[in-house]
Amino acid sequence: MSETANYTLKIRRYDPESGETAFWHEYGVDIAPERSVLDGILYARDHEDASIGIRCSCRAAICGSCGVRINGKSALACNTRISDAQAKAGRGKPIVVEPMGNMPVLKDLIVDMDAVHWKKIQRVVPWLLPDGEPPEREYIVPAESMIDVTQSMACIQCGVCVSACLSLEVDPEFVGPAALAKAYRFVGDPRDGQTEERLRDLAEDPHGIYDCTHCFACVEVCPKDVAPMDQIMRLRRRATSDHEIKDKNNGYGHEKAFVDMIETWGTLHEAQMLPRSFGDGSLIRGQTEPGAVKQLVEALPTAMRGLKSGKVAPKKLLFHPKLPDQGNVKKIYKEIESRDERIELNLYIVGDNASDEEGAMAEGSEEGLA
Ligand code: SF4
Ligand code: SF4
Ligand code: FES
Repeated sequence: MSETANYTLKIRRYDPESGETAFWHEYGVDIAPERSVLDGILYARDHEDASIGIRCSCRAAICGSCGVRINGKSALACNTRISDAQAKAGRGKPIVVEPMGNMPVLKDLIVDMDAVHWKKIQRVVPWLLPDGEPPEREYIVPAESMIDVTQSMACIQCGVCVSACLSLEVDPEFVGPAALAKAYRFVGDPRDGQTEERLRDLAEDPHGIYDCTHCFACVEVCPKDVAPMDQIMRLRRRATSDHEIKDKNNGYGHEKAFVDMIETWGTLHEAQMLPRSFGDGSLIRGQTEPGAVKQLVEALPTAMRGLKSGKVAPKKLLFHPKLPDQGNVKKIYKEIESRDERIELNLYIVGDNASDEEGAMAEGSEEGLA
């Protein structure tokens, strides 16, 4: 056992039953550097104040119950070394520990997961909805067809991504990273019979798949590499490319406009982005659909203000130069479009062209599942 060192944890305390406002308190903890922040919190609870509220069980990043924010970053307390947390806090500074964000605090470091996280999980109907009569015995699914959902299945429901999600801060109704990763677990499951209905529901919901702003925060903090944002992008690709769901949130139009513009110019023609996104993404039809016209008219005052202030130049509105090596961009499009089926990379599928072994994994061979 290595020698112990002294750390200071600055913990946010709050007990709604006391009638007092929240306050910060510092606790000196004497533990070995390789121990976790959770060990530090438990040390403070055992040696100094037995009333510190913290939820925990496994102490091994399995049960998902000890999510907190450490120096402002959402993480599992049991999965964060106290010496690493000290390095992040800075020499001589206390390690700041507070409850997870985007969820109401019940007491000290314990948040109400039912009010937010579990409610959102329920929102996506987190169970299989197979079509037809159940088989006499069990459903038989080829192992390779499950590779695509293995990453979302790794979720331990800790809520750390929910705590870190910037869209949730702005729109508390957003379905959120954990629940959308869960939704993909069933959308990608070949046994589910409601794939299109699930996708349509999440595409049409103003707080659904198009409410994510690609900030990567959930990818960065997830202790199990579920990469919730990647699962959301998978849901979008299924909704747009596979089922052509033209949603009222303009997700379909926005994606099509984006993809077409990069194919044409290599870079985004910003002035075209908004008008095309309002419709079905195409240049003429997209902008002349009744719904698109309505939204464009509503956006006109903003555009006029941009022109007046000089932020939007009329020349830039009309002309957009192609990249000098635009031909190479087109080649990438051709290569992708020539494939028989889309390859979704995840933890278990690492690439299709680096080596034979990796290629085998991409094709979902038995070896790929090992
Ligand atoms: S990438 Fe999307 S879901 Fe993930 S934290 Fe950012 S806004 Fe939230
Ligand atoms: S996706 Fe990751 S961070 Fe989010 S609840 Fe699941 S395991 Fe936790
Ligand atoms: S105590 Fe179980 S995940 Fe931290």
